[in-house]
Amino acid sequence: MQLVKPEIKHIESYLRAIEGDWSDVAFEKDPIIKAKKIKDIKNNPREFLELFDDPNAKALPYLLGDQTIAYAVPSLRRWIWDTKRDQYCGSVSLRWQNGTTELPYHLMGHIGYCVPPIEQNKGYASFGLKAILEVASALALEFVYLVTDSDNLASQRVIVKNHGILVEQFTKPAMYGDKPALRFLIPLVENPIKIVPKSTRNN
Ligand SMILES: CC(C)(COP(=O)(O)OP(=O)(O)OC[C@H]1O[C@@H](n2cnc3c(N)ncnc32)[C@H](O)[C@@H]1OP(=O)(O)O)[C@@H](O)C(=O)NCCC(=O)NCCS
Repeated sequence: MQLVKPEIKHIESYLRAIEGDWSDVAFEKDPIIKAKKIKDIKNNPREFLELFDDPNAKALPYLLGDQTIAYAVPSLRRWIWDTKRDQYCGSVSLRWQNGTTELPYHLMGHIGYCVPPIEQNKGYASFGLKAILEVASALALEFVYLVTDSDNLASQRVIVKNHGILVEQFTKPAMYGDKPALRFLIPLVENPIKIVPKSTRNN
């Protein structure tokens, strides 16, 4: 297994993974949006590959479920690659703000990941999270937050296996569906300064 910054040679396998009902981007499950995305990737693969590293937050703003505009923050996206089968097996992303572990209100956590259903329960997300934590560590983040739905037991297991500490239960804001959720923290240094639930802080 490897975390790859996608290149042209990786795209075919990714397109196979998203050609059915599944997508690694929630709003792209819509068939019309999906079809356009696939067409755009085929027409201009280089453009698709451009923003997998976006340390200066050049990505365009996007609309959340409640029509709130979400502005980009520095981010980095990678694919989980099965080197034996030479196959795409999931996506993992890291977003952060420079010089702080704080995130803007519209971002639930520093790290997100997903694995196509047919590849689940084979260790890909656990590997992907472990590998992206090394990247976060290199960015000098003292810790990262991860948020899962309260009923997402597989994701919680992935986080706990990667030394996640549960810091709070809360209800996601309306833009993310008003659902019960859990916030975990994964320390990246020995004694992170603030292990304090995010929603109970004043600033
Ligand atoms: C969550 C998700 C990324 C996990 O990916 P994965 O590659 O299957 O994860 P892994 O194989 O590395 O680990 C899954 C762990 O959860 C466990 N698990 C799976 N389903 C479970 C369940 N219903 N209850 C308890 N544990 C469960 C597995 O046994 C495994 O633990 P183990 O290694 O100790 O046996 C995948 O299910 C997914 O893409 N879900 C939809 C998107 C999502 O929820 N993303 C995370 C948002 S925070």
